[in-house]
Amino acid sequence: MTQKPEHFQTKKNALKRIAVPKCSPMNQSFLTGVFTLLLCALSGCQNALEADALTLNSPEQTHRIDIYLDEAGRPGYRVLRKGNPVIDSSGLGFEFKNQPALLNGMRWVESELFSEDETWEMPWGEQREVRNHYNGARIVLEEQEPPGRRLILNFRAYEDGIAFRYEFPEQEGTDSLLITAEKSEFKLTGDHMSWWIPGDWDIYEHLYNTTRVSEINALSKQDHPNLASTYIPENAVNTPVTMRSDEGVHLSFHEADLTDYAGMTLKVDPDKLMLSSALVGSDRMDYKVGRALPFHTPWRTIQIADRAGDLIESRLIENLNEPNKLGDVSWFTPMKYVGIWWEMHLGIATWDYGMTMDESGRWVDTGKAHGKHGATTENTRRYIDFAAANNIKGVLVEGWNTGWERWIGFEDREGVFDFVTPYPDYDIEALAAYGREKGVEIIMHHETSATPRTYEQQLDTAFALMNDLGMHSVKTGYVGKIIPKGEYHHGQWMVNHYRNVLETASKYQVAINAHEPIKATGLRRTYPNAISREGLRGQEFNAWSVEGGNPPEHLPIVAFTRMLAGPIDFTPGIFDIGLKQKPGNQINTTLAQQLALYVVIYSPIQMACDLPENYEGQPAFEFIREVGVDWEQSKVLSGEVGDFVAIAREERETGNWFVGAITDEGSRDLEIDFSFLPEGVRFQATVYQDGPQAHYMENPTDIDIEKSTIDRNSKINYHLAAGGGLAISLIRE
Ligand code: NOJ
Ligand code: CA
Repeated sequence: MTQKPEHFQTKKNALKRIAVPKCSPMNQSFLTGVFTLLLCALSGCQNALEADALTLNSPEQTHRIDIYLDEAGRPGYRVLRKGNPVIDSSGLGFEFKNQPALLNGMRWVESELFSEDETWEMPWGEQREVRNHYNGARIVLEEQEPPGRRLILNFRAYEDGIAFRYEFPEQEGTDSLLITAEKSEFKLTGDHMSWWIPGDWDIYEHLYNTTRVSEINALSKQDHPNLASTYIPENAVNTPVTMRSDEGVHLSFHEADLTDYAGMTLKVDPDKLMLSSALVGSDRMDYKVGRALPFHTPWRTIQIADRAGDLIESRLIENLNEPNKLGDVSWFTPMKYVGIWWEMHLGIATWDYGMTMDESGRWVDTGKAHGKHGATTENTRRYIDFAAANNIKGVLVEGWNTGWERWIGFEDREGVFDFVTPYPDYDIEALAAYGREKGVEIIMHHETSATPRTYEQQLDTAFALMNDLGMHSVKTGYVGKIIPKGEYHHGQWMVNHYRNVLETASKYQVAINAHEPIKATGLRRTYPNAISREGLRGQEFNAWSVEGGNPPEHLPIVAFTRMLAGPIDFTPGIFDIGLKQKPGNQINTTLAQQLALYVVIYSPIQMACDLPENYEGQPAFEFIREVGVDWEQSKVLSGEVGDFVAIAREERETGNWFVGAITDEGSRDLEIDFSFLPEGVRFQATVYQDGPQAHYMENPTDIDIEKSTIDRNSKINYHLAAGGGLAISLIRE
């Protein structure tokens, strides 16, 4: 329900407010056009007042957005937090193919203010209830000159940030638009410290950089021999990109509800300290987005917080998406899973079986099986048994279907993978039945090798097979350059492909965990079968001998950047930190940190990714057996971007709590104040802490495990080793 509450200012009042800013002197660079209007406001020239600016405050007045047309008739906005500018005057608008730009020369037709306060429930998530509380504005603009095209701005002011998007209504004489550039600007108020990855059109699997905005040079990040696809055309960053001002305000820029549009990177002007939207394109088109009217763009979002941890607690991105369209999705249950996976990355087993393609393109067994195939019936049974014995509900099986002999490094990959035909040594039906008997579901795997057309031809049959076999989740993959050539993973064409997969899957009660995905933009609210995704350098990089694996600061950065977008299939849980099969490689964390990741990194599916034999006889494995995956509530206890983070989460149904904390290469002492626990309840705690000799390089597996009783009055100091962590299970007495 939307209504116009009394506390909203009329446009006139709004202007008066701008004219008399409370705590902030009017910023020097705030556009002169607005100044003219303000002077008008003070001197009472009402006509000018009737147009061209308004102020929107968040419900508790933390954020204020000034929206205006400047002297040239270009729309713009600025944002203040607690009276201080955090985004300076920034322009808005578009350029099109075969049409003049919509930038300058607009007039203000009308505006509307409204507010919303609703609470919705996540079917699975970091918390059960989410409050969506904001004040909104809708401003209709029109070209002053013929043909008088209209552009509508939508703004929302929340306590945890702001957002805006554009709406293109039906227009006379135009039924579609070809956008060549979106000109949304974000003018920063200082040279903030920033945590960024390059604006790659094809992949997000980059190490994060920590630099001032003036030092961002994404073009210097071109050299990635390990990435099967990468394309960084300009000095832009991908989102979410997180920043901290010298005054300690945190800002994270991203987008929400990315629907039928190109993904947005942010071009960086290091001199002007300006970010501007740079949409991902396609070499097949001379525009970035093609749409029929009417339509609206995704939301451009800025999460804003004093405390870094509040960025993680913010649900702004999900709030900006439409409510659940799928209804009951209880056919998917959050779960831990193991899988035939790490053994391939370690080189012990292979995805392929050793088949040959005949002239008609069929895969045939010509007796060339090499005997290293991982996805065999026998091996899968072993994993199912292991899962069943350890409170693990899923087994992922990669390499079960034909086509792997030709999946990477081939120009012509279309028509190669088949998503219904198992290799001869994999009895898909018997295994599904065996899993059912043991209370374990097999997780399907569809590596498309970046051939979406091949996949789309088979979607219905592939999902129907899953449905028949009682399989409700699939890990998809898009390794390589997209075919058709000229498309990129993050362009409009692929955005639509990923959505098609999600929607088709939902009809068969199938949930998607996409690797090499399009970034998460909160669509899990609308489509709760979007359970998790990769979209970062995951655990696998630690097995590949590249750049020394992920450094210890990687995850303390990821928690405040990539994780703000949505759930991450990072695949934690390596116990053989030294990787005996890969001499010279290791995981750059302690064992205690591997445990902590089950709490710190959120996903409704969490892999225990090491080989079952590496868990045998390990007391620390008890934590993985016990830890929850679906949460009633989550609290970020403390943290600083790139340094450390500590999170506590309450499991749904049981009321048990779990705490996870991780640190970068610096060791540190951390006091945990347990006052988040409920009144009057005592908890049996098991603490998994770095041992006195622990260090991610020298002694990663030194771990102390202790039991005690903890309640809300407890305050305890813990020591985290370099690259270390802390995991605590708190089971209700
Ligand atoms: C890359 C994925 O990230 C990885 O998890 C998977 O094993 C391979 N592709 C094969 O699909
Ligand atoms: Ca990957």
